Amino acid sequence: MKRPRKGELSHHWALDPETTFLNHGSFGATPSVILEEQSRFRTLMENDPVRFFEREYLDLWDEARRTLSEFLSADINGMTFVSNATQGVNTVLRSLQLQPGDEIIVPDHSYQACWNAIDYVTERSGAKTVVVEIPFRVGSPQDVIDIIMGAVTDRTVLALIDTVTSPTGMRMPFEELTAQLQSRGVDVLLDAAHGPGIVPLNLSLLAPAYCTGNCHKWLCSPKGSAFLHIREDRKHLIRPLNISHGFSYEGEAQEKFEFEFAWPGTQDPSAWMCIPKAIEYLGELVEGGWPRIMERNHTLAIEGRNIICEALGTTPPFPDSMVSALAAVEIPTDGEVGPMSLEGDPFHNFLLDEYGIQVPVMPWRHHGVRYIRISAQLYNHVDEYRYLAKALSESL
Ligand SMILES: Cc1ncc(COP(=O)(O)O)c(C=O)c1O
Repeated sequence: MKRPRKGELSHHWALDPETTFLNHGSFGATPSVILEEQSRFRTLMENDPVRFFEREYLDLWDEARRTLSEFLSADINGMTFVSNATQGVNTVLRSLQLQPGDEIIVPDHSYQACWNAIDYVTERSGAKTVVVEIPFRVGSPQDVIDIIMGAVTDRTVLALIDTVTSPTGMRMPFEELTAQLQSRGVDVLLDAAHGPGIVPLNLSLLAPAYCTGNCHKWLCSPKGSAFLHIREDRKHLIRPLNISHGFSYEGEAQEKFEFEFAWPGTQDPSAWMCIPKAIEYLGELVEGGWPRIMERNHTLAIEGRNIICEALGTTPPFPDSMVSALAAVEIPTDGEVGPMSLEGDPFHNFLLDEYGIQVPVMPWRHHGVRYIRISAQLYNHVDEYRYLAKALSESL
């Protein structure tokens, strides 16, 4: 079958020309130039690993932190790196001293790994996970706000709020939620795994107690580049997952914070170091820079969503304003919906094997539904969603 056209910027990526890649959302995809930059850092490190870690590492770490903080309008003193958003969420949750009866809110669109981390810490401390049920089909962001705020009690200490949800591709009204929850005394742990580069983020204005996010998704930096930002008044509560050399450091508090997070033990830090280049390089690919990239991907995701809704004989589940560059729709399912597996849903595998389409199909047992989720990134073209629609019409 003739492959659909790709976006005109697709040559910047090393994606397989034989695959229609509609899943930027799961692991991102990194342009070749950024991968070359990562090789350059690795070569620098391997030329003399001791010199690299003693003399070059901290400046590079700091420069990456500074650039990302500027991009997110964040206080650099609260910014640090982690390997992925799962680690950022775990770092916060496993640091907090929960009391029996404390409640943590988790909406039922949340990423299962992060939800599991909440269950882990509430189970071990006698606290309670409060799962907030939010329908997939909602009329407005206000519906979501009302449901979540309705779950707050005087025992609520924390809420996990996504910027954009994973299984359902819903852009959450996270700005309003953060403001309202925190004004009720509930700290927000903002899961911005789909954050930088997909939705505008101003961490100084939002001021969540905690925010973790991936750069390896929508900023397209190499895998393993993620951040954790902790608000000044909460920094004393949080320790890195790895207790390392910084723990016994006796200097000033900010220096200790940086030492503890900058040295989790020996590892390859090159992915973090590529964040500045990724921000600069992608930002220059499109006139208008990042605001225009986000707008362009949003428009394409809506177009793609309309095309597949038509093929599936369904309607868009929520307003366009609640879509970012990810969009999900239910697909017909017979029988019970089981948990997600590492091997992938059979229909996802079918689309890849028979049509060469890489698109996630997510069984979401909390809703009893399977969702198919498209992504829109600069390398995509609207023809690719038409091709998916044809495959769906032929096979469902
Ligand atoms: C909403 C959300 N949170 C957390 C994660 C975890 O990201 P990572 O696998 O990089 O830790 C994802 C991954 O897709 C996600 O979509």
